[in-house]
Amino acid sequence: MKAKQVPAISLNQVSKIYCEDRSETIAIDNLSFAVNEGEIVAIVGPSGAGKTTIINLIAGFIAPTGGTIKLNASDDRTPHRCAVVFQSDALFPWMTVSANIGFSLRHRGIAQDKREEAISTYLSKIGLESEANSWPRQLSGGMRKRVELARAFASGSVLLLDEPFGSLDSLTREAMQDVLLDTWARERRTILFVTHDAEEALFCSQRVVVLTPRPGTVRTILEVPFGDEREQDLKTSPEFVTLRRELLSVLRGNHHADRHVLDSDGLRA
Ligand SMILES: Nc1ncnc2c1ncn2[C@@H]1O[C@H](COP(=O)(O)OP(=O)(O)OP(=O)(O)O)[C@@H](O)[C@H]1O
Ligand SMILES: [Mg+2]
Repeated sequence: MKAKQVPAISLNQVSKIYCEDRSETIAIDNLSFAVNEGEIVAIVGPSGAGKTTIINLIAGFIAPTGGTIKLNASDDRTPHRCAVVFQSDALFPWMTVSANIGFSLRHRGIAQDKREEAISTYLSKIGLESEANSWPRQLSGGMRKRVELARAFASGSVLLLDEPFGSLDSLTREAMQDVLLDTWARERRTILFVTHDAEEALFCSQRVVVLTPRPGTVRTILEVPFGDEREQDLKTSPEFVTLRRELLSVLRGNHHADRHVLDSDGLRA
């Protein structure tokens, strides 16, 4: 039996309709899922399925049209309760790399020596020790993305990541996946991240929420059977390759909404 699971994020029958110039877009419809405390969950779905909308709803940047969203069992979704990494660049351009990473630590009143220690830990994780005093405009897009991730990790709150690695080259992307998993395994943070990459979703999560095309709703939730310590070469193992193929097939709509793609005891060949 698993230990009692406490939902850190829960969505219950959530819908979001955007109204603009008298036209309506139903972005998501009747969407329900939960992320337990300390769990790392991926959301995958076609473009326009409402993935960014889900992140914005959970973060409290926009309000749902219907349904309920709770963070740590509370309706309070003031933005500081989550750290969000967006698809686009969002570093503070008036702060150095170090100040960006330390922003939330400072905000939370953490003492300077502890702050410096945390900043240097995260700088080394993202491989940018030499850029501590650089300004965001002096960095490449991939470097900026890495700093954004470090800033989010340093925040200590629930992490919402919207295609965080989308703009990175494949080697940097793998390195950042390792950082994400390593940080999660050590700190047991609650992490919900969006990716359009089936391989990344499986490699970096304990469960994958698969969305239908717009209006996005849950097509299925896939349990990932791999342990917490994962190396990149897992991606080439037969189990992983099979699971990836299954996930891609579900994404293409080849399975019924409520059909589980895994047998209870493992993988289907
Ligand atoms: N502010 C808005 N006003 C009107 N329509 C919007 C708004 N934001 C998103 N939409 C529409 O809602 C739908 C879902 O958008 P969303 O950005 O959540 O999708 P997504 O799954 O993140 O897509 P992608 O994979 O391309 O990032 C799309 O059809 C989009 O055009
Ligand atoms: Mg998006």
